Amino acid sequence: MNELKGRKLVLGVTGGVAAYKAAELTRLLVKAGVEVHVVLTEAGARFVTPVTFQALSGRTVWTDLWDGRMGNNMAHIDLTRGADGILIAPASADMMAKLVHGLADDLLSTLCLARDCPLMVAPAMNRQMWENPATRRNLAQLQADGVAVLGPAEGDQACGETGPGRMLEPEDLLEALIACFQPKLMAGRKVVLTAGPTFEAIDPVRGITNSSSGKMGYALARAFARAGAEVVLVSGPVALPAPAGVRRIDVLSALQMREAVLAEVADAEVFVGVAAVADYRPAQAAEHKIKTSGDAMQLTLAPNPDILAEVAALPKPPFCVGFAAESRDLDAYAEGKRRAKRLPLLVGNLVQDALGGDDNEVVLYDDNGRYPLGRASKAELAKRIVDHLAALLADGELREE
Ligand code: CTP
Repeated sequence: MNELKGRKLVLGVTGGVAAYKAAELTRLLVKAGVEVHVVLTEAGARFVTPVTFQALSGRTVWTDLWDGRMGNNMAHIDLTRGADGILIAPASADMMAKLVHGLADDLLSTLCLARDCPLMVAPAMNRQMWENPATRRNLAQLQADGVAVLGPAEGDQACGETGPGRMLEPEDLLEALIACFQPKLMAGRKVVLTAGPTFEAIDPVRGITNSSSGKMGYALARAFARAGAEVVLVSGPVALPAPAGVRRIDVLSALQMREAVLAEVADAEVFVGVAAVADYRPAQAAEHKIKTSGDAMQLTLAPNPDILAEVAALPKPPFCVGFAAESRDLDAYAEGKRRAKRLPLLVGNLVQDALGGDDNEVVLYDDNGRYPLGRASKAELAKRIVDHLAALLADGELREE
């Protein structure tokens, strides 16, 4: 189900404190179904011993170019035979320099030189080393050579300094790796999404909201990012971290969400409204906390703008996708909403299935018909929705040509 399952990966570990994170990465990769072959440089093995990686990967760990355990003594070629990629994490400044110059004086650098699979590096070094002109030149050359550079992140460093050069966290590396193996169906396209609930203030401490978890919107944002899109996620209040590579804009109310969306969609190719936008807001939010009086109280509600309908009605609208959560008659209501808001694509689901859960069952509706996507995790459904949408976009462009 995930992009990594069944893949063969060589994980190169060079000398750096971040080598300890490579141990956790190995565990995550194995859990994701990857066949992990760990190759340590001599310096890497000083930070974490081969025993740790052997236990975590369940395979022989390699360090020596002259290792006699490979029958034909060809470890430098055999290890990458049939491999889907080499990931070096952490990649030291020294290893980056070696890769640039094609040096091959140890097993890992030789494997890289003799490979016919993609190479990915996750740099990890002290801020000054990262900013050194030599490293900058090496970075540019590696990218020009088609090497995928994952990270680095900014933050506290083992040397006590703060700045760029920290290796990406294992979870982020896993995410970046998945993206590397994913077809870039949405490359060069900007996608704006809304997700989560909105919060409509009654007074400074109270408000009207709903139980949307944001999971579907966030899964979809992640799937678009993996497919190579530039993703902006306008999010109501949810307890979820922003997916890697996604620009998130936090909002509370429907009016704030509308403003953020309108500012972002002008140059977007796709807009997806996943948010459960409150249809009404208190007509007037009290400036101060409302005191309890014990009497009945009336709240006057004003209708909120329909963000999706407004974007779809722009003179040059992006490709608009709506969501419809219904408790019955899904086909009729979903198709009705699609037509009313003039949407080329709508994702429908029955609400009792979806709220807060990790699984869902959805049906797509477009100009050509109805496409049930079946029951699956929200992550998997998000991927299928992106695939469907990318095909519709490509179709539309073909027809325009
Ligand atoms: N939507 C929006 N702005 C609103 C309301 C809804 O952008 N003010 C978007 C949602 O993000 C979703 C779709 O419109 O993509 C949902 O359509 P809607 O008809 O508003 O759904 P419900 O609010 O569920 O409608 P109803 O209560 O009539 O079933």
